[in-house]
Amino acid sequence: MGPKGPVILVKTSELKPSEFCKGIYDLTPKEDFVESIGANGVLVPLWVTVDNKIIGGHRRWAAAMKLNLDTIPAQIVPDSDELSIESNRTRHKTWSERIKEAKKIKEILTQKAKERQLAGKKVDPGNDSDKGRTMDHVGKIMGTSRMTADHLLELEGKRPDLLEKIDVGRLSPFGAYKTMKMEENSARHRDEKLVVSLKSDVTPAIRLGDFRILGQGIPDNSVSLILTDPPYLEEHLPLWDDLGALAARVLKPGGYLVTYSGHFHLLTCMNALAKHLDYYWLMSLKHAGQSKVVFQRNLIADFKPILVFGKPPLGRNYRCFHDLIEGNGPEKTFHQWGQDVRAFEELIEDFCPLDGHILEPFAGGGSVIEACLNTKRNVTAFEIETGAHKILERRFLQTPTGVSNPNDQIPA
Ligand SMILES: C[S@@+](CC[C@H](N)C(=O)[O-])C[C@H]1O[C@@H](n2cnc3c(N)ncnc32)[C@H](O)[C@@H]1O
Repeated sequence: MGPKGPVILVKTSELKPSEFCKGIYDLTPKEDFVESIGANGVLVPLWVTVDNKIIGGHRRWAAAMKLNLDTIPAQIVPDSDELSIESNRTRHKTWSERIKEAKKIKEILTQKAKERQLAGKKVDPGNDSDKGRTMDHVGKIMGTSRMTADHLLELEGKRPDLLEKIDVGRLSPFGAYKTMKMEENSARHRDEKLVVSLKSDVTPAIRLGDFRILGQGIPDNSVSLILTDPPYLEEHLPLWDDLGALAARVLKPGGYLVTYSGHFHLLTCMNALAKHLDYYWLMSLKHAGQSKVVFQRNLIADFKPILVFGKPPLGRNYRCFHDLIEGNGPEKTFHQWGQDVRAFEELIEDFCPLDGHILEPFAGGGSVIEACLNTKRNVTAFEIETGAHKILERRFLQTPTGVSNPNDQIPA
């Protein structure tokens, strides 16, 4: 497919790069390549058109320009995108470059098939075997099977982020395609669940923002129970003091703050809450499913602490409760840190009267909100992350007449 004509010398500065190649390849020559051209000259002639467009040899040309070489050897070829790809056949290419080449080749082959059809030949571009042949060729250009070529083209359209990971070697083409399909499936699964979401008379108030700001809108002594699951990492520890302060103001006297906690910073969390509230009890959520090995301590964690604090005066709880809750296991459909709804339902029944109002300052995927709706408690929830808040809105605020206004729901 290469040129057969003689090698001629052309003026380096009169050549122009091809837009097609600029769109596919990285045309910048590496330092050592420029040095080698400086030492040995351009040994392999460029491919150029009669009107000085470069079809092959952009990096040799860019190096010659850098080195101010007056002329450069070249051979004349027809102006053809296919030929540009051919001239780059031996180049080490990223997957993104290979995909761009493949797309171009696919376009060219499909166009050729149409032209043959128009010329009266019996070729149908919509015909499966014709398509198959095109994809075989595309696969060849990419150096993969036809199926992988198909997968990569789909990936390029939908997930450029995963393609970048293939280029830098963090994912294989197969691994990236599998990741894309798994994520699509779990999004579909989540959407199906959203459709059959809750049917409840209670409409939750769900606000986007920092609980320390939004909490200021909650009247004093208006909340029966704060039920929540804050982030547990060390960097989040300052939040616990603010949570305690908010609880001390908005809880009704005798109302509870019931919160999940991690183990590592338990003491700090409890001390922060104890600055503002009375300690009531330490409950535990028994982990379900796979054991959680805590490598740093060489142990297997079987439970998560549930801290119960309250706003004085705290007396005997209005109903007798078990301090060990059997969990169903985390539920990650709506949030990476999603918790089991049923355990929250039990805590609501234990610590909130039927007409009580619940506050959830760290809503995440909305397990507490769902538990409130299932147990028919009014709830106000805050979430700082836009993505998580959007999911909450879709889960809980779609009514037959549209999306309800969360601003109406703050307790009076
Ligand atoms: C552990 S997750 C809650 C998971 C939730 N229990 C569930 O089952 O889906 C904690 C959530 O608190 C949110 N968050 C962190 N800081 C916050 C803040 N200052 N105000 C409001 N939300 C915050 C995080 O974005 C995260 O979604």
